[in-house]
Amino acid sequence: MVNIAILGFGVVGSGVYEMIKNNKAVLTETCGCEINVRYVLDIRDFSSHPEAEKFTKNIKDILDDPDVSVVVEAMGGSHPAYEYTMDCLNAKKSVVTSNKEVVATFGKTFLSCANQNGVSYLYEASVGGGIPVLHPLLKCLSGNEIVKAYGILNGTTNYILTQMFKNQKSYESALREAQEKGYAERDPRADVEGIDTCRKICIISDIAFGGFVDPDAVHTEGITAVSGEDVSYAESRSCSIKLLGYTKKREDGIVVIVAPFMVSKDFILSNVDDVYNAVTIHGNAVEDVTFCGRGAGKFPTASAMVGDIIDIVNNTAGKNREFGRKDVKVVDYKSEPFSFYLKLSGSCAGIEKVFENCKVLSASDSSAVIITDKTTQSQVEDKVKNASLKIERLIRCL
Ligand code: NDP
Ligand code: HSE
Repeated sequence: MVNIAILGFGVVGSGVYEMIKNNKAVLTETCGCEINVRYVLDIRDFSSHPEAEKFTKNIKDILDDPDVSVVVEAMGGSHPAYEYTMDCLNAKKSVVTSNKEVVATFGKTFLSCANQNGVSYLYEASVGGGIPVLHPLLKCLSGNEIVKAYGILNGTTNYILTQMFKNQKSYESALREAQEKGYAERDPRADVEGIDTCRKICIISDIAFGGFVDPDAVHTEGITAVSGEDVSYAESRSCSIKLLGYTKKREDGIVVIVAPFMVSKDFILSNVDDVYNAVTIHGNAVEDVTFCGRGAGKFPTASAMVGDIIDIVNNTAGKNREFGRKDVKVVDYKSEPFSFYLKLSGSCAGIEKVFENCKVLSASDSSAVIITDKTTQSQVEDKVKNASLKIERLIRCL
């Protein structure tokens, strides 16, 4: 029997607990032994729970029990998740987490600490909910030089965009539904302002390129400024608007961007709706591979965490690949070429002369909506300045 402890009995932690119970026969067969939840730590009162004796509010109960070999962290937030994770690793207990905030911020420290203690730190559930994306990146694709990765990495915002623009719901009711379904972060500004996507693309980038990207240094836009007008223009060009995390390796470093993109229907991502996430990874041998599935929710996320537990129990996790092995420079996001959707104000009569080869979607003397040729944001800003125009809206196109 392998004894585990679960920290945090909310949406995800209770999902892990129930999945272990519901899938007991499958897990016993896969692991060759039973997985037993010995402790659940949560600050709330669970005295009327059928297994109330398992609940504790004291991390020492878990740290001091030599029979607990795996700890599942599903509390969220940075503190005390950071301290508890370090204490567990130093007590030679492997840790599995869904908490992207701590992985993106402290993953470098955790992975190195886990290696020093000969245990595992696994975090598949921290990116893409139930979609296996980090394991393929760390294992199946690890012989490739990764060139770029981009994806829909937040279920809440994809759900909101779908409900608003396909099902005509208000922003408020779409967000409320995402919260009721257990998709949203405790503070949903982390979802709608792109912070959660930023943490996830940083984790992907850290694995793919071996550096360490500070989430605070990443250009991050959310979905709150996306308007019905933007969506109508997108649809007129057979595109959808999706919040993407984007990272790419260049000669001069890596570029990391989080922003709404106008995604052509030619890309799989364009048709990925509701809570679904999708991530495309481009390796120099494999070319494009896209992983798609439920990006949030109780059981999809539990699925990823239980997969990590099995990896540890079966001794197949291997040595932890540490972040920050290489000195990777993050380059100015404004130097990355895209074609841009621009809504401009000012004297727009000669807009085609300012932006050669642009497609004009609408124009008057005082405003214009265009799609530029491939260029950089720096060049766009120079042209706009020289022509005394103003950018009212800028969306990158994929
Ligand atoms: P919840 O808020 O539903 O659950 C967290 C639980 O941990 C709550 O019961 C909370 O109690 C408890 N808790 C908070 N602080 C402590 C503490 N110091 N000691 C003990 N217990 C504590 O969050 P989720 O389950 O939704 O998310 C957990 C983590 O997983 C987060 O990092 C989240 O970003 C991530 N995640 C969530 C997904 C989802 O679909 N929900 C998907 C993928 C990742 P209280 O409520 O009283 O604070
Ligand atoms: N709030 C997150 C989302 C949870 O909506 O994607 C999954 O990480």
